[in-house]
Amino acid sequence: MTDSDTSDGAAPRHDIAPADAATGISKGLTNYGDRGFSLFLRKAFIKGAGYTDSALDRPVIGITNTGSSYNPCHGNAPQLIEAVKRGILLAGGLPMDFPTISIHESFSQPTSMYLRNLMSMDTEELIRAQPMDAVVLIGGCDKTVPAQLMGAASAGIPAIQLITGSMLTGSHRSERVGACTDCRRYWGRFRAEEIDAAEISEVNDQLVASVGTCSVMGTASTMACIAEALGMTVPGGASPPAVTADRIRIAEQTGTEAVRIAREHLTVDRILTPAAFENALRVLLAIGGSTNGIVHLAAIAGRVGYDIDFEALDRMGRETPVLLDLKPSGDHYMEDFHHAGGMATLLRELKPLLNLDALTVTGRTLGEEIERAGPGFAQDVVRPRSNPIYPQGGIAVLRGNLAPGGAIIKQSAAHPKLMEHEGRAVVFENAADLAERIDRDDLDVTADDILVLKNIGPKGAPGMPEAGYIPIPRKLARAGVKDIVRISDGRMSGTAFGTIVLHVTPEAAIGGPLAYVRNGDRIRLSVKNREIALLVGDEELARRAEDKPVAVPTAERGYRTLFLTTVNQADQGVDFDFLRAVEARGSVPSVDPSRGSVPGAKG
Ligand code: FES
Repeated sequence: MTDSDTSDGAAPRHDIAPADAATGISKGLTNYGDRGFSLFLRKAFIKGAGYTDSALDRPVIGITNTGSSYNPCHGNAPQLIEAVKRGILLAGGLPMDFPTISIHESFSQPTSMYLRNLMSMDTEELIRAQPMDAVVLIGGCDKTVPAQLMGAASAGIPAIQLITGSMLTGSHRSERVGACTDCRRYWGRFRAEEIDAAEISEVNDQLVASVGTCSVMGTASTMACIAEALGMTVPGGASPPAVTADRIRIAEQTGTEAVRIAREHLTVDRILTPAAFENALRVLLAIGGSTNGIVHLAAIAGRVGYDIDFEALDRMGRETPVLLDLKPSGDHYMEDFHHAGGMATLLRELKPLLNLDALTVTGRTLGEEIERAGPGFAQDVVRPRSNPIYPQGGIAVLRGNLAPGGAIIKQSAAHPKLMEHEGRAVVFENAADLAERIDRDDLDVTADDILVLKNIGPKGAPGMPEAGYIPIPRKLARAGVKDIVRISDGRMSGTAFGTIVLHVTPEAAIGGPLAYVRNGDRIRLSVKNREIALLVGDEELARRAEDKPVAVPTAERGYRTLFLTTVNQADQGVDFDFLRAVEARGSVPSVDPSRGSVPGAKG
């Protein structure tokens, strides 16, 4: 006898709740024109997998399964799913995992960013289409957490983020190494002919010592910290490495919490508030986080109706010190951050600058979670505000005639001497031109020049690849040059470093001023004045635009057509215009003119 049989011989239960109150397996019925039949059929099919009616009466918790042979950053997905399911079952829910797109940085052509919005649509639509009362989002590699938060924000049901966790560090000839700051450092040494092919091959074996996400403060670690700062993970969810018992316990706890938010109907819009976005931006600045964090936060905020106010963000940056001593801005790795207490240690130190009333998925406020984490302890990974790694936030917002819509620089990873610099432009028209000429001995370039790379913006490449980390021309690298000012409309990996201006908006491919820069033009960078200026007159620029108008990229069919016709610029998160919230609700961080500061800045 199965649970669907009844002892009194009456018909098995197939009634459904009214559409507006439907929960669990009865939610979102397939449309056959007969709701009773729809549920009857759904139950018949799921019973083919051996489920009982009593199991199907429980709150249903969806789990996004982003495991993939192409994604070693999610290589622990099977163990995480098992632990999440355990947590859900212990709390009385019914776990249902389902596959979505999974994106890995090194296995996505032309670039992972090209696929982020597709993953967000996949996530959103599968949350909408399938019956679930809450969803656990398992993400880690750079674009996956943003895509999932974007999708979940649009879908609107209760959602909780589970991070896959960082990889372990390896060792090369006694030196500790980890992806991917050390990947770039060693590759730079190889290009400069400081190490040979045999040694770079040895290094290749050691950089990624286990499954999990990059072990420095790259985009994955940044988004993990941001997800926790937003209140979208359980406390402590950002830092445990992928292969640790702590990570598995976080997974079990996430499953348990998912059942609670389903029962309480704690929807994502109650978590993703302006206060939460301000906390996330504050944390982004204080951790010396990836510049990609701004793009992703702009996209997530756009899904719930908020724009990023870049002037206010810059002001916030001026009053937020970098406290986290992690590569590439500092010395440590994610596992050290975890041993130092993780986000609780950072948030405790940042407390006077945070909106402590922001609600988190636990149903408690961020302030309450900081209190529950208890007192701190001696450690050397999170600095006190009185002794920061860098006195201002890691990221500065630049303006000027070269970037009327703004540009950014990660000042904490830049060379102090180059942050006030004027030089001659050495221009590359696109990524192919760069690859063709950058290492030529006859390239006319000196260490005082400014490298300009066009057409790697949202439409230009397309997908705004992380090609903004323009390599030092080989002849300069051989001569010992370690940094040079570089400017582009592209992005940069969070694991990269250097005096690099990114996200120039509008991009060259749609006719932004960057399109008209020529070899030999003078460019002035002043981080102090937040300026990026092309020292060419307006009339001359207009003449150049008229002489050689820009041909905006198009495509003949498929996803590329959708991408090229609807993608926004960097300041709106490179999201598709039709995916943003219908209703505009304001901007974040909000500005309180009477204080000339942002509301979170209380200390
Ligand atoms: Fe996946 Fe770095 S490649 S996090």
